[in-house]
Amino acid sequence: MKKYKNAVAFILNDKLVEVNFNDSRSHTPTTTVLNYLRNFPFHRGVKEGCAEGDCGACTVVIGQVNEENKIIYQAVDSCLMFLPMLHGKQLITVEHLARIEDNKIILHPVQQSLVDKYGSQCGYCTPGFVMSLFALYKNYNNPSKEIILDALTGNLCRCTGYQPIIEAAELACVNNGTDHFTDSEENITNILLQIKKSTKTLSLKTKKQTYYRPAKFKKAKLLRSLHPEAIITSGATDIALKVTKKHELLKEIIDISGIEDLKYYEERPNTINVGAGLSLEKLKTLSEKALPALHHMLTVFGSKQIRSLATLGGNIGSASPIGDTLPVLIAYNASVVIESIDNKRIVNINDFIKAYRKTDIHTDEIITGVIIPKPKEGTIVRSYKISKRKDLDISTVSACYALKLNNENIVQSIILAYGGVAATTKRALEAENFIIGKLWNQEIVEEASQIIFREFAPLSDARAGEEMRRIAARNLLVKFYSDSLTF
Ligand SMILES: Cc1cc2nc3c(=O)[nH]c(=O)nc-3n(C[C@H](O)[C@H](O)[C@H](O)COP(=O)(O)OP(=O)(O)OC[C@H]3O[C@@H](n4cnc5c(N)ncnc54)[C@H](O)[C@@H]3O)c2cc1C
Ligand code: FES
Ligand code: FES
Repeated sequence: MKKYKNAVAFILNDKLVEVNFNDSRSHTPTTTVLNYLRNFPFHRGVKEGCAEGDCGACTVVIGQVNEENKIIYQAVDSCLMFLPMLHGKQLITVEHLARIEDNKIILHPVQQSLVDKYGSQCGYCTPGFVMSLFALYKNYNNPSKEIILDALTGNLCRCTGYQPIIEAAELACVNNGTDHFTDSEENITNILLQIKKSTKTLSLKTKKQTYYRPAKFKKAKLLRSLHPEAIITSGATDIALKVTKKHELLKEIIDISGIEDLKYYEERPNTINVGAGLSLEKLKTLSEKALPALHHMLTVFGSKQIRSLATLGGNIGSASPIGDTLPVLIAYNASVVIESIDNKRIVNINDFIKAYRKTDIHTDEIITGVIIPKPKEGTIVRSYKISKRKDLDISTVSACYALKLNNENIVQSIILAYGGVAATTKRALEAENFIIGKLWNQEIVEEASQIIFREFAPLSDARAGEEMRRIAARNLLVKFYSDSLTF
């Protein structure tokens, strides 16, 4: 069986490619997939618009073999993916969508529909849109408008306008995903499985960098203990910006995105246990019934391209005061599971976040999962996000509330968790203490909302002034009260 030494292997469209790091000047382990592709004259369909996941011009589709040995196609931003993250996957670029038959170019249905609906003007965004439409085509038949809009949220167009592109999606996605990729799927699956089988840990070394990509969690823990200075990366949607925006040299990296054991979602009798490596896109789908407040927050989290890469462990690990899952996890009273080679501990999320972007994690530990207690019968949990734009924007202020009333409408317990109003995600403890034991009515809620207005001392920045944030925090509680009357 072939061993990959200082090299990664993947399928570029339909060809097996091995990229070696021995003495390459054109790429390093933290070269992004976007920059790798644009080194080739034939692969310049993919574009750079922002290099930070905001425009979608760099969208490519990744094919991965799932547990049932089927290829799953996902649109991702190639500007946020490091080259080794392609190992054992199929990278599909816009150049491979059309095919030649009898010396004629036959466009893929999504390309033909864009032509038919006049969905392109200057064309800069078009390859990115084509790839998002292609992923939609492979995953849905006759998708609803909501599904189409969600698939296109991560792509910006400054000249055509979106209506013709939406119509192109409606026109194209009617063949149950069948196309020329269907014919080659079995062969591609076999090659990808071979690569997976023959790789335990990728260990990539150049003069300046070392990049580890373990396939097993045990190995990741060992690597972590041996390399305490190494940066952990999972989806890399935060870490990649260190390279693309800050031009930092990441000397040692442990990439845990290839560890399948960390991608679980388990419903237990009293808890829901989520693996740190589960993508937020999968979590969004899986949590819809059992954890609606989390599901709701994930519907306005980044874009599909971002959520397909980003993980729950990464959102917690970033400890950003505007990390969107954090107020939700606080409201659900979740705990974080942390492991090192010889220890495992479970820490409540409130204690895990220590300060601005600082967590309780030690240099030999990895976040492995999150335990979310199922809310008690009758508990209302609801999440809110205020941002400048509804889609693909980070929060100005976010909140998640959990409320339990008794039969007399008296508040038995309440959690008021906020993002964007302090250096960390924070509970409005003073307001909580005021509300507990009181009647849940407009007068009490308005008084509590005034406490919230005084309780936080947020900063002003480009997103909002401090007063606007305090007003938003105050008013969200009033909105929650009004929403709670309809449950
Ligand atoms: C365009 C764009 C839009 C975004 N929109 C949003 C948004 O709407 N809401 C929001 O909250 N965030 C948003 N983000 C930020 C980012 O996507 C999230 O924070 C995401 O959850 C990070 O997950 P990741 O797996 O990509 O983490 P990574 O980038 O891989 O890592 C993030 C941090 O967590 C650490 N880490 C990761 N996994 C582990 C682990 N298992 N154990 C220990 N440490 C770990 C890393 O060392 C690093 O410090 C956006 C980012 C971009 C680029
Ligand atoms: S270049 Fe803009 S999302 Fe990648
Ligand atoms: S066609 Fe010009 S940016 Fe979309």
